[in-house]
Formats: sequence, C-alpha cells, structure tokens
Amino acid sequence: MQTERVVVVGAGLMGQGIAQCAAQAGYAVKLWGMNEGELERALQNTASSAARLHAKGKIKDDAQAVLARIEPVVDLEGCGDADIYIETVVEDLEVKHRIFRTLQRLAPPTAILASNTSTIPIGKIAAATNCPERCLGMHFTSPVPMMPVAEVIRTSATTDAAFGRAVAFVRSLGKEVIHVQKDVPGFVFNRINLPSNVEAIRLVETGAASVEDVDKAMRLGFGRPMGPLETADMVGLDTGFNALTALYAETGEEKFRPPELLRRKVQAGQLGRKTACGWYLYDAAGARIGVASLPD
Ligand SMILES: NC(=O)c1ccc[n+]([C@@H]2O[C@H](COP(=O)([O-])OP(=O)(O)OC[C@H]3O[C@@H](n4cnc5c(N)ncnc54)[C@H](O)[C@@H]3O)[C@@H](O)[C@H]2O)c1
Repeated sequence: MQTERVVVVGAGLMGQGIAQCAAQAGYAVKLWGMNEGELERALQNTASSAARLHAKGKIKDDAQAVLARIEPVVDLEGCGDADIYIETVVEDLEVKHRIFRTLQRLAPPTAILASNTSTIPIGKIAAATNCPERCLGMHFTSPVPMMPVAEVIRTSATTDAAFGRAVAFVRSLGKEVIHVQKDVPGFVFNRINLPSNVEAIRLVETGAASVEDVDKAMRLGFGRPMGPLETADMVGLDTGFNALTALYAETGEEKFRPPELLRRKVQAGQLGRKTACGWYLYDAAGARIGVASLPD
C-alpha cells in the first residue's frame, strides 16, 4: 500500500520540520496547529528553511512548491483521508491520548498512527486506542530538515506491515532508519545519549573536569562535531532536564536521574542559547563569549 497523504498533528518545532520534509518528498501534507498564528509562524519557518536548502542545491523544489503541498488546518475533523498520521504535540500523555483517540475515530482503518514522542512508551500512547496494531513511534531529531536519520519504534502489538510502511515512509524522506524492535524507554537515541549527558554533567558537578574539557574530550577524543554540553545549550537545558525527569520516573534507573546541578541551572533560568546563558555565555549575536558560572 502506497503512502500519499500525510497528516502532521502539531505545528511546533518538530511538526513543522516533519511537514516540510514530507512536502519536499512530494507528499500532500495537512499540518494541524492549535490556531492560525501558530500555523502562520510554522509556514514562515518552513519557507525560509526550504529556501535555504534550495539555494544550496539540497532540494530540487523551491520554497513556493514545497509550501504549496502543505495545507494548514485548525480543525482535525477535516483530516480523515490520510495514509499516515504523525503526532507531534506537547510531551504530555493526556494530550497525546486525546489526539490518538480522535485519530482512531477519524482516520481510515488502514492508516498508520505514529507518535514523535521522545520519552513516553509507545505502548502507553497506543493504549488509548483499540487499534494498537497500527500504532508506532516515529522519532525524528531536530532540526528535522537537516538530520539524516529517524527511529521507527514498534510495540509487541505493531504489525510487520505497519512497521514496514513506516520504515519505507521515513526512507522516502531521504532519511536512514534506526529499527527499534522493542518499546524500551528512551528508544535508542536517548537511551545511549542521555546517560552520557548525565555523566558529563556529573564530571563538572564533582569538579573532576571543566565544562570546556568535557566538551573537548568528546569532540577530539571521539570525533563528535560538538561536545555534550554545547549541544545541551543548543537543545535547551530545560528540554534535557524534562526528558531525564520523564525517563527516570518511567524506569527508576539511576542512569537517567537528573543531576542536581542541572536542576539548579534550570531553576536559575540558565537554559542555554535561548537565554544567552547555559553551560556557556553568549552575546546578542549568539557568539559564545565564555563559560557560565555555576549557580549556588
Ligand atoms: N524538540 C526536540 O528536539 C524534539 C526531538 C524529538 C522529539 N520531540 C518530541 O516532539 C513533540 C513535540 O515537540 P516540539 O519540540 O515540536 O514542541 P513544541 O513546543 O515546539 O510544539 C508542541 C506542539 O503541541 C501543541 N500543543 C500544546 N498544548 C497542546 C494541547 N493541550 N493540545 C494539543 N496540542 C497542544 C502546540 O500548539 C505545538 O503545536 C514532543 O513529544 C517532543 O518530546 C522533540
């Protein structure tokens, strides 16, 4: 069965990126947002991102052609005719349950229902439906139009056919797929990356190494383009803290326990580039100008 029509539910950072990639690949996309203002901002971001990629020769269609394939909608009820639904709303189980219940009611019975959740087990989201066999995880990373890979996660109820269609869809966006065969907390990306971030913060917390040396160790010692703390500044320390808190609550595993220093930084509003202060300090133009002091 061929995928032609895609609905992306949620027009925030991830939703707009996923909608853009699907439109660039030629799909007819409906992008649902909470209100007109959110959708307008999403389409503006999509236009400038697609224009940049087109100017660099990375995509064949210009921004106008990409935008022409995205229909913004504020009423999900008009979205009953798609092959794949990708939910990208806020990381809150109740909200995701509400969306999945609506999708189960209005989507064709053959459609795939995917969630882009970072930390909630797919089985818990699918439990709100009576069609867990066609529910799965489709976990993209940010910025979606730039990143060459996504995870596809199955539960014990997901059929081979649904999993295979989701994998084929992600590949059709020009991305490699990480096949996650079990619904483990954190899937693959976060299960490997977050404990390593925790360890990086604990090294700073105990005074074993400086912020700069921790990043340098991972850049020069392991060939990473960026160290874990400079990456955290880009992602947002609050986002990292929330992901760890959710995974620690889910698993009770020590490796996900948010370090006290990270909690203090978030409480102090040191959230990374967006507040000009995280692990590092930034000037108004976004250039790094030093290392931030640690909060009391
Ligand atoms: N930001 C990342 O780097 C990243 C990476 C991978 C996965 N994710 C996951 O993707 C999802 C979305 O993240 P994001 O970064 O795009 O968030 P975002 O804050 O940019 O967007 C969230 C969206 O949810 C909508 N929303 C908020 N409250 C709602 C409600 N009560 N009912 C319905 N919709 C509501 C907002 O209008 C918005 O469209 C989350 O599950 C997150 O864990 C995020």
